[in-house]
Amino acid sequence: MEKQEILVTAKSPSNIAIVKYWGKHGCQLPNNPSVSFTLSNCYTETSVTYIPDLKNGMQFLFEGKESPKFKEKIEKYMEKHGGLYRFDTDIFSHLKVESRNSFPHSSGIASSASSMSALVLCLLKLEKALENDETPLDLRRASMLARLASGSASRSVYPVMALWGETSCVSDSSDEYAVPLGDMTAPVFKTYHDTILIVSNKEKSVSSRVGHALMEGHPLAEKRYLTARHNTQRLLEALRTGDLTAFIDIAESEAVQLHELMATSNPPYKLVEPNTLKIIDEIHRFREKTHIPVCFTLDAGPNVHLLFPDEFNEKVSAFVETKLKYYCVDNQYISDIVKGF
Ligand code: PMV
Repeated sequence: MEKQEILVTAKSPSNIAIVKYWGKHGCQLPNNPSVSFTLSNCYTETSVTYIPDLKNGMQFLFEGKESPKFKEKIEKYMEKHGGLYRFDTDIFSHLKVESRNSFPHSSGIASSASSMSALVLCLLKLEKALENDETPLDLRRASMLARLASGSASRSVYPVMALWGETSCVSDSSDEYAVPLGDMTAPVFKTYHDTILIVSNKEKSVSSRVGHALMEGHPLAEKRYLTARHNTQRLLEALRTGDLTAFIDIAESEAVQLHELMATSNPPYKLVEPNTLKIIDEIHRFREKTHIPVCFTLDAGPNVHLLFPDEFNEKVSAFVETKLKYYCVDNQYISDIVKGF
């Protein structure tokens, strides 16, 4: 084995799904295709140092502090999927992994997509460094390896937009990895804004892992997967043609449906808060009054993602400042935008 220390770093963004992945089977395979925007300002930066004489196993620091919960997640991933990397798996016990997020830890923003994709990119860079290989990273392989760590992480390796899951509309789409959609997307979507309104910064009461599992045997599961397939087809067409009306319709109905699935699972649960619904009402009133094509989506949590084209940034930002931020915890929101090429 290599005797010298090797340091590699990677930065990977979060993403927000428009068509949602909810329900999986086999080895982290999705029950329907999903489509997301890749963000710019919400990202994880990770460094991995290979230290040949490191004792006592892998070290993991999150924002400078030990985090047994994240460490366990990484160790499980390495145990299960480490054999897919082109290095000896003994290497894992000689790694020091350090990770930090650009967004506050207590913002309620899911960080598994950015953190797990950043980790995978580091491991692939380490693989190349050990082989003295200077060729560019294979993003498809990165996406596949990231998927095994966290489904949504598979989409974070590409800029602009990504599709994960097989659909007849995109010839090289696959359940195993995501593919980039940037080239199939009208210009208006390449600078789309996502203002994340922080309604709650508490840890979710029900994790996504449990949420996916509750889709097994869910009375609406089969209908949901069909709808998601149909919405993927419609969304791909709307993205290609720049059809904002269709985009808004799909984004909002997907968000509502995700939370309806939670409300109708066994046991049922709810992640939205009263202020989530108040913000949604405000957005609808604002859209009706101004005809600005602004809409919302929700992740598996109470925070509202406000989506709008760049040309309306000034007016929508004023709306956020004068109205929406007062529904947020400590008036907190994050202005993000789609990551460019
Ligand atoms: O990647 P996971 O297992 O954290 O699941 C993500 C699920 C959603 O964020 C709700 C939807 C999605 O497609 O990102």
